[in-house]
Amino acid sequence: MRPFDYIDGSLAAGPVRLADIAAAVGTPAYVYSADAVEAAYREFETALAPARICYAMKANGNLAVLRLLAGLGAGADVVSEGEFRRALAAGIAPERIVFSGVGKTEAEMEAALASGILQINAESAPEVRSLSRIAARIGRTASVALRINPDVDAGTLDQISTGRKTDKFGVAWTEAPALFREAAGLPGLSMEGIAVHIGSQLGDLDPYRRAFRRVAELVRTLRAEGARIRRLDLGGGFGIRYRDETPLPLAGYAALVREEVAGLGCELVVEPGRRLVGPAGVLLARVVAVKETPARRFVIVDAGMNDLVRPMIYGAWHDILPLDAPPAGAHYRPADVVGPVCETTDKFAEQRPLPPLAAGDLVAFCEAGAYGAVMASTYNGRPLVPEVLVRGGRFDVVRARPTFEESLALERVPDWLAASGGDG
Ligand code: LLP
Repeated sequence: MRPFDYIDGSLAAGPVRLADIAAAVGTPAYVYSADAVEAAYREFETALAPARICYAMKANGNLAVLRLLAGLGAGADVVSEGEFRRALAAGIAPERIVFSGVGKTEAEMEAALASGILQINAESAPEVRSLSRIAARIGRTASVALRINPDVDAGTLDQISTGRKTDKFGVAWTEAPALFREAAGLPGLSMEGIAVHIGSQLGDLDPYRRAFRRVAELVRTLRAEGARIRRLDLGGGFGIRYRDETPLPLAGYAALVREEVAGLGCELVVEPGRRLVGPAGVLLARVVAVKETPARRFVIVDAGMNDLVRPMIYGAWHDILPLDAPPAGAHYRPADVVGPVCETTDKFAEQRPLPPLAAGDLVAFCEAGAYGAVMASTYNGRPLVPEVLVRGGRFDVVRARPTFEESLALERVPDWLAASGGDG
């Protein structure tokens, strides 16, 4: 069953009408389907067991979403101390967390090591050396995987490709053997394995194959020298359907893993983000006005680029569905769907065929559960929007809309300015 579908002409999450949620919490608002997240998780489990599933929480870090996934058995892939603490707060044990990222600070590495994290994915020689120093200083052993850059083009958007030699991520595969050897000799480090992640929203298995071959080759080289390699972190990147893409076939991926790396006998980790939560979320918005100009029909909605930025920074496509199903035979006409933010780039869709829409109508931006709320900002003085989780026939607000007072609470006017008075 699709996570969001029309029931009696009204778009719903399971049995819950999205219009009822909009009426209760206002718009804009993110809505996630717990059932859809769970189904997506089960699909991974079925296809890839016994691999460890470390949810790439950068896709959606809401505490309730994390808690849901933790309850299903997921670990987490984190990229900052903030994410790490959030994962812990959601009940994910440190022994189920891997720490990725190209610019971990010493404080972040120390916090992770002190807690007994499963693995840190090191991405450079300086990072390997810092990890050794910190671990030795605090009397811990750091379990480390070396993230390699396999110089493989993932064939996805340029902005979310990470495995080409010109990308900032990982250690060049050509230099990885030497760095692994060096690391194996450093105090405080236990070199556990190799990690790789070549990009996001992959639709094709072939780049994975090329990357995994490089990983397998490296494992064989290092083992021939006596290195002990027991874990491979294969990253994320599993593509979904936004427009007309074919989602990455998970069964095909699993077969590929069996062919290319399973024979090495390592424990396997995967880090799916988007695939677990993307299709499970929508962003609800209300039409503020429809403005016809000599050149365009603008549908102006109350959500903006600060709420969902993917269309603006990646040119990403999100389906836009009216909450009330258009009548049969409705006339679709091109429209530019734009937000209220004072930038021309605040445009969700250009010349998109849409049925008639009027002020007050509600729409949903689809596949917005991943890289939606987490990438939001308060630009133009717009508070972060609430998040709602639907389970079966109920819904709960899992992040409240901050009040304007709360939005101001961290800011201070220094004495010397306060003294000058604001009322004169
Ligand atoms: N592991 C690592 C080391 C990553 O860097 C990422 C994503 C993932 C796993 C999860 O990848 P996924 O399964 O979600 O494709 N903001 C962009 C996506 C950025 C992805 C960054 N890294 C977007 O909205 O498309």
